[in-house]
Amino acid sequence: MKFFIDTADLDEIREALSWGCLAGVTTNPSLYAKTGGSLSGFEEHMTKIARLCEGLPVSVESCAKTVEDMVADGRRLSALAPNVVVKLPVCAEALAATRTLASEGVRVNMTLVFSAPQALLAANAGARYISPFIGRFDDISEDGLDQLGTVIACVHNYDWAGRNPDDTVEIIAASVRTPHHVTQAALLGADIATVPLAALRKCLRHPLTDQGLTGFDAAWEKVRAQG
Ligand code: G3P
Repeated sequence: MKFFIDTADLDEIREALSWGCLAGVTTNPSLYAKTGGSLSGFEEHMTKIARLCEGLPVSVESCAKTVEDMVADGRRLSALAPNVVVKLPVCAEALAATRTLASEGVRVNMTLVFSAPQALLAANAGARYISPFIGRFDDISEDGLDQLGTVIACVHNYDWAGRNPDDTVEIIAASVRTPHHVTQAALLGADIATVPLAALRKCLRHPLTDQGLTGFDAAWEKVRAQG
């Protein structure tokens, strides 16, 4: 399973990139709003992220409401940089826009997916990535991981050759909040987990690692003292 970072914050992306294991970035309007960015600065900011992450997919979301506007946004956003993936929320208009964009070689990440039928519709329309949310199910006392497993099983049952520019569909486990979500998403066979930096840091650390390191450092100090 690959790791994407779920943020629009350039410093957070730089930090995750420095770890050497980042495979992509996902952004959304809430994450962009958190950076304090303006409407006029949106495309410039997304271009900066795409350049910083050259060669890695960077999802940039359109807030358009009609098929025509989604297609126009998709064409414009995908022209910002070769690694931009256009993010659209699952709905009838977005399915139609995805069909057009996919036929033009534009990669689409279909987001706000909460059910297997939504995911199957997205894959048939030509989505390159599908983002089922975990945490938001947990927020309403439902099992987000169980739902993720169903989406993965249904989508991975089929060959999506000819449906999108890369002939394959990858499932991005989204709305990931904890290391437990990450482990379970991998066990379920998610292709990618998009994870906020705070949760990535929690994934990296373990108290036994810290304890072990303290012990090794103390032992090494003794070795050094003995010369
Ligand atoms: O990429 C969107 C998704 O990850 C949102 O997460 O925590 O707002 O449910 P969250």
